[in-house]
Amino acid sequence: MRVWAISDLHTDFRENMRWVSNLSLEDYTSDIIIVAGDISDDIGILEKTLLLLKHRFARVFFVPGNHDLWIRRDGYSHSLEKFYKVLNVCASCEVEYSPRLIGEETPSLCVLPLFSWYVKPEEGPDSLYMRKPGEDPGLKVWMDDYHIVWPVFDGADNASDFFLGRNLEHDTRFFQAPVLSFSHFLPRRDLIMSLKRPVDKQGRPFKDPHPKFNFSRFAGSAHLDIQLRAMGSVFHIYGHQHRNRYREIEGVRYFSHNLGYGRERAFAGIDDKLYFPKLVWSEEDGFSTYPEN
Ligand SMILES: [Fe+2]
Repeated sequence: MRVWAISDLHTDFRENMRWVSNLSLEDYTSDIIIVAGDISDDIGILEKTLLLLKHRFARVFFVPGNHDLWIRRDGYSHSLEKFYKVLNVCASCEVEYSPRLIGEETPSLCVLPLFSWYVKPEEGPDSLYMRKPGEDPGLKVWMDDYHIVWPVFDGADNASDFFLGRNLEHDTRFFQAPVLSFSHFLPRRDLIMSLKRPVDKQGRPFKDPHPKFNFSRFAGSAHLDIQLRAMGSVFHIYGHQHRNRYREIEGVRYFSHNLGYGRERAFAGIDDKLYFPKLVWSEEDGFSTYPEN
């Protein structure tokens, strides 16, 4: 058995749905795929995508991302109602979103899905916010500000507190085997920036297309890192930023491998036909290692 990772499938784009449909029907039939959030805000597209994956992999694990919880369709009163609807769709597709031990008699791995949300800088010190020269804090381009609506949370200050609180309900007996955790949002500020200055396929330096937009306002939560370490994670998969990353920090390997948008793949010179989920663990070799970036 092997475990593969992908995030940010965004299958409302036809070319992305085609990429999922083109995944092999034979290569992964004993394997697990972890999808670290952001499939679609359209519940029908979300369900179709999960079923396509279920036909290709033995097991599919998923946690919702921000796009999955948008409420611009179907009359949801808030994004928490949408969250429970997404979990119901997962359950009906036999897609897993709770911790599971992998291995028959002696478990060799624990797959640990972690729900999460980002903390904005004005919401508290767990924000991953970093100052960006020239940013416009009043910029109205972050679509979550229009399509995400939270109710008043019972016993939680914000969405991040609420979701991290839900993770604490997990039975700690699952953590007896090496823990492979995953979330949609980033757990650490130092994962946001690349180790090298990014370049395009011709080697020209990456020019920030949105100099006034500061992603770190919406990146993730530092408390998520405290939580995944407390639960014994040694390998953490995340999504959200649409930047592929591998980094080893203080005993934990962090990994992001996204499909993202067609224009991002074109910029990076990626051919969809040669792009696949990435291996993160196998029964034979354990956890994967990649060059740090
Ligand atoms: Fe995304």
